Amino acid sequence: MQYGYFDDKSREYVITDPKTPVKWINYIGTLAFGGFVDQTGGALICKGDPAENRITKYIPQLPASNFNGETLYVRINRRKKKVVFSPFFVPTLDELQAYECHVGLGYSRFVSECRGVRTEVTVFVPLGQFCEVREIKITNISDKVLDLDLISVAEYSHPQALKQFTNADWVPQTMTSEAVKGEDGTVILMQYPFMLRDLNINYFTSNFPATSFETDRAKFLGENEYHTWQNPLALNEAELGNSQALRGNNIAALMHHLGRVAPGQTVHIVTLLGQEKDLETAMPTIKRFSDPINVELALKEMAAYWDQYLEVMQVNTPDAAMNSMLNVFNPRQCYITRNWSRYLSLYQLGLGARGIGFRDSSQDVLAVVSQTPLEAKALIEKLLRVQKADGSAMHQFNPLTMEANEGDSREREDRPHYYCDDHLWVVQSVAAYLKETGDWTFLEQEIPFYNPKDHENPVEFGTVLEHLQRAVAYTHDDSGKHGLPLLGFADWNDTINLPTGAESSIAAALYGRALQELITIERALGDDEAAMKYATWFAEMKAIFNREAWDGDWYVSYFDDQGMPIGSYLNQAGQIYAYGQAWPVISGLAVEDRAEKALDAVFEKLNTKNGIKLSTPGFNGFDPQQGGITTYPPGAKENGGIFLHVNPWVIIAETLLGNGDRAFAYYRQINPATKNAIIEEYESEPYVYPQNILGDEHPQFGLARNSWLSGTASWMYQAATQYILGIQPTLEGLRIDPCIPAEWDGFSVRRRYRGVVYEICVKNTGHVNRGIESITVDGEELEGKVLPIKEAGTSCVVKVRMGRGNEKTLV
Ligand code: GLC
Repeated sequence: MQYGYFDDKSREYVITDPKTPVKWINYIGTLAFGGFVDQTGGALICKGDPAENRITKYIPQLPASNFNGETLYVRINRRKKKVVFSPFFVPTLDELQAYECHVGLGYSRFVSECRGVRTEVTVFVPLGQFCEVREIKITNISDKVLDLDLISVAEYSHPQALKQFTNADWVPQTMTSEAVKGEDGTVILMQYPFMLRDLNINYFTSNFPATSFETDRAKFLGENEYHTWQNPLALNEAELGNSQALRGNNIAALMHHLGRVAPGQTVHIVTLLGQEKDLETAMPTIKRFSDPINVELALKEMAAYWDQYLEVMQVNTPDAAMNSMLNVFNPRQCYITRNWSRYLSLYQLGLGARGIGFRDSSQDVLAVVSQTPLEAKALIEKLLRVQKADGSAMHQFNPLTMEANEGDSREREDRPHYYCDDHLWVVQSVAAYLKETGDWTFLEQEIPFYNPKDHENPVEFGTVLEHLQRAVAYTHDDSGKHGLPLLGFADWNDTINLPTGAESSIAAALYGRALQELITIERALGDDEAAMKYATWFAEMKAIFNREAWDGDWYVSYFDDQGMPIGSYLNQAGQIYAYGQAWPVISGLAVEDRAEKALDAVFEKLNTKNGIKLSTPGFNGFDPQQGGITTYPPGAKENGGIFLHVNPWVIIAETLLGNGDRAFAYYRQINPATKNAIIEEYESEPYVYPQNILGDEHPQFGLARNSWLSGTASWMYQAATQYILGIQPTLEGLRIDPCIPAEWDGFSVRRRYRGVVYEICVKNTGHVNRGIESITVDGEELEGKVLPIKEAGTSCVVKVRMGRGNEKTLV
């Protein structure tokens, strides 16, 4: 059983059966205006913030067959009766004779056939606009004339999304709808909660005359809502009830009589769902998209945007699934995670407290600095604004208000209220931005430190460089009994919440990596003294780490408040953690023979055919002392599950040791593009990385969940492009040092970097994993591995021959 296929040429995944095992979604627009559309046309849309300004009501916990957010009904008026169906399958659930959902870049296109009617609907948010466009084409594919109606429907949420669920008194008393006549018989339905009437309105309209409308859900469904979305009573009548809701559950439904449609004839309609401060402000947009030519132009503009986004790097390797991911689907997912952080998906419900995650976005940014340097810089600036003057960072923040909070640590009075890793990640983000752009002025930019007492009035400012210096200084001064950094409430692993005094090895490694970045930055700035200081700090941590944290065959990952090791052979559960091995290698804290041993232990103890587990064995039973990890059954999520985010770290570590075969095998085994074959077991979208797959301790081993918003996207992209293919931006320029399967004959890459297009062709003549024999740039032999930075606007041909032994590149 398969639910679809990749169409790489069209840069689409095409879903061919609406009954996917779980909802499969696509993102449209951005956080400024947008959301997601599922494979049955349902949509969750917001503007600026899903918690504070939500537009449609989409409840992921409802059964998949339920109406959610938006839909479309087609009605065939026969002489004796009216036949109604939804071309999206949901909510009428009529058998469709044909169905396709094209999951495209920034749009979803539905094509279906039912009862002699072919419907094509393209859903998207035009670049930079505050509206969702649905371009609808209805064709009579039968051999008889059909009398057709089209009814478009959306259901509103209260803008304060959580209130919608927690207050069934205030919310319904305030929800209001108004109908206004547009031009040529069109109708504009306005909607707002009473208090926003003069400030902010939603609108729903179309470019086709609407003979009637409905805004009250109860009236649309009928019989006090004992009729359902599958069979709304209102659709038995020629016209809708024309009620302007003064309270209750507000919808927007428009009746379009398409009239008698001849065989082969197509009718076009465009619907718009948007939000503006008032109708007057909305009018130019409504006018613009009432002309189908402008809709086509907006679609072209969006395609051009994606052309230039993807063109930054295109690869051709011997592995088709890798090409598919690297050329389209993985960079697209990176765009989405940069946009939405962990805020809004089928799993992250965007209802309130969460906002933009500090550590999450710091990592997301790493994979989009090449494609969208300006947006990446803007996001880094926001992150630095919620770093506190002591160097540590707030855990999450609201993107609209910039108010930040301490995340889940707020739920535990008895635990520290900071995370030991947040501030360390952002050092990597700034370094990645510099390596890609060479924009050194960024380091001098002044950015306020977060003032938790009054976030709108910061009291201290510092340059970006000072922000980074304070980040490492915070960890330098925050160590525990063994000399390793204190854990705080948690480290990267949110679920290890130990009593105050515990120490974290990944924090040590992230500190090590941050120091390495700072050392090269300070050297490039000519500040040798600072570089020396950080080199000393690094050496000190390396010595402590190897003295205290080696367990015999791998590194321990924590010490608890009593000084006992966690992630040790001494433990019953959680004997070894994957990130606890990968990060010491990536950061250079691990000494060479231990690096190899530690990664071999990962291979032996944590690898499965579906990916590398985060830890093993799982805890079997809740233990509040151990924290969140024990809330999961063994094999799920952080408790022995295949938490994909750690997989690319192991891949990167393997490439640093020169193990191209193992690195690629790890890459390949979690490539979603290979999961079509086992989709009944895997269940999630095969065109994006999920956050987790159930591990082999769980009876449902192989089941994937929490798709889209995962750091896996960013790190898999970095692992593949910078470490396996080895095309790596550095402060000096683009460095070439692949670590690939020995059996590969080579590969080629087209990379735009600092305005220069590099056509790189790698020949693995020696059939090695790693090792450069020669590099020529436009025919000239290059010394070393860093390509010269040429004049922007030029291009050059780079020929690489691989041979010799398998080099290692440990720090
Ligand atoms: C989730 C969180 C992320 C955390 C990870 C591991 O993905 O969003 O911040 O690092 O889980 O616990």
